[in-house]
Amino acid sequence: MTEINLLDRYPRSRRPIAAREASVPRERDVARRFGREYFDGERTQGYGGYRYDGRWVPIAERFRDYYALTGGQRVLDVGCAKGFLMHDLRGVVRDLRVFGLDVSAYALENAMVDVRGSCARGTADILPYADDSFDLVISINTIHNLDLDRCKQALREMSRVSRLHTYVQVDSWLTEEQHENFERWQLTARTYFAPDGWRRVFDEVGYTGDYYWTLTE
Ligand SMILES: C[S@@+](CC[C@H](N)C(=O)[O-])C[C@H]1O[C@@H](n2cnc3c(N)ncnc32)[C@H](O)[C@@H]1O
Repeated sequence: MTEINLLDRYPRSRRPIAAREASVPRERDVARRFGREYFDGERTQGYGGYRYDGRWVPIAERFRDYYALTGGQRVLDVGCAKGFLMHDLRGVVRDLRVFGLDVSAYALENAMVDVRGSCARGTADILPYADDSFDLVISINTIHNLDLDRCKQALREMSRVSRLHTYVQVDSWLTEEQHENFERWQLTARTYFAPDGWRRVFDEVGYTGDYYWTLTE
């Protein structure tokens, strides 16, 4: 179990917190449906346009190198959205077998064409896969959208279906300013803690995989 930021090559951008803050209470229900508005609606409702632009390529390379991924291995992305990371993992590891799961029908209907057939609609806390099905199970910015009991179950499920590695990234904060920014910005998260709180949850459910935090700057 290692605290490691495998998204350290993700472009950093300052979020327009003040512009979103006032509309957060109004937009929360819409965002939590994870439909078109969340991905491709206004920035106050979610991403404000979730389009492929290659930004996941260096992250896919980071996962490849850190976990020494090779062709023939099986990787699952829980909360795969439109499959951008899946697409780029296939691009950087020849013959990698990549699968995805997401609750959003809209995201899956609009997923990258090359991975769409490997995506399933479902929820992170009930993974439709046998024990030890994957060499690596990734979940980025997804399981904090579940309430605490289901979030814990999602961690157990990730552990159950992985035979080797797991990596989870969740909302958290390292400074009080990041905490305040997070509370003003976030639309969909239901479970969030400072790092110590998350580590207690990981211990309680027996999650022994790798992890890091999404920070609101
Ligand atoms: C912030 S987005 C992250 C997407 C992608 N992993 C990324 O980092 O760009 C959260 C994703 O979690 C999905 N999601 C929300 N609740 C979920 C659940 N219970 N099970 C699976 N996916 C879920 C949403 O549809 C959305 O695609």
